[in-house]
Amino acid sequence: MNNQPTRYHPALVALHWLLALMLVFALGMGTFSLKELSNASPDKIGALRGHMIVGLVIGSLMLVRLLTRVRTALPAPATAGSALLDKLGHAVHIGLYLAVFAMAASGAATAFQADLPQIVFFGSGATLPESFAHLLPRAVHGWMAKLIAALVALHVIGALFHQFRLKDRLMSRMWFGPR
Ligand code: HEM
Ligand code: HEM
Repeated sequence: MNNQPTRYHPALVALHWLLALMLVFALGMGTFSLKELSNASPDKIGALRGHMIVGLVIGSLMLVRLLTRVRTALPAPATAGSALLDKLGHAVHIGLYLAVFAMAASGAATAFQADLPQIVFFGSGATLPESFAHLLPRAVHGWMAKLIAALVALHVIGALFHQFRLKDRLMSRMWFGPR
């Protein structure tokens, strides 16, 4: 008897697509808005507040998702008909989990080093430092942003390759329906 489902668990599907949206949104806001805004701008504290909340929610949901993944039955590993591509696909999935955790951790470390929880959430009256550029976790946060963008691009290309070239209906595995 084979109990292996044909799709991921609906909770994992919902988290996958919610996190995909939130992550792309946070990457876009961080790169094109937050980073461009001078720390002297009166709008910066509000922008940081929004970004930090969204970032922490992403980190927490990613953890919920990892726990859901290890506790639910998964479909058999997908294959692209090449051992190398299959290994790459698997490595990209693991890389996405690790990079998102590193993103949230480096953001939180930047915030603690710059005393942002006090300044941003409790209005301690202290002002923001001139910039965060000198902080190591801030640099890591920037590198991780580029790494995540590259991994997401590879991941999407892989998904499209399966769906439209191999025509194996891979997308349906990450969608709702009878399992
Ligand atoms: C719009 C863009 C995206 C598309 C089209 C897409 C598509 C898919 C598909 C079809 C699967 C199922 C693969 C399989 O059956 O083995 C999958 C799995 C997965 N996706 Fe995406 N995805 C997208 C965005 C993202 C993003 C932004 C992340 C980053 C967190 C992500 C992380 C994952 C992971 C880690 C898996 C493996 C299943 C798991 O462990 O949760 N995806 N994706
Ligand atoms: C995990 C999801 C997160 C994503 C996708 C994200 C994304 C980004 C991006 C793309 C940047 C600009 C980086 C660059 O291009 O150099 C940035 C900056 C920043 N992020 Fe995040 N971030 C996340 C989580 C967090 C968290 C949890 C915090 C703090 C609690 C945080 C605090 C910051 C700070 C302080 C900056 C620097 C802004 C500046 O230089 O003016 N981030 N983030």
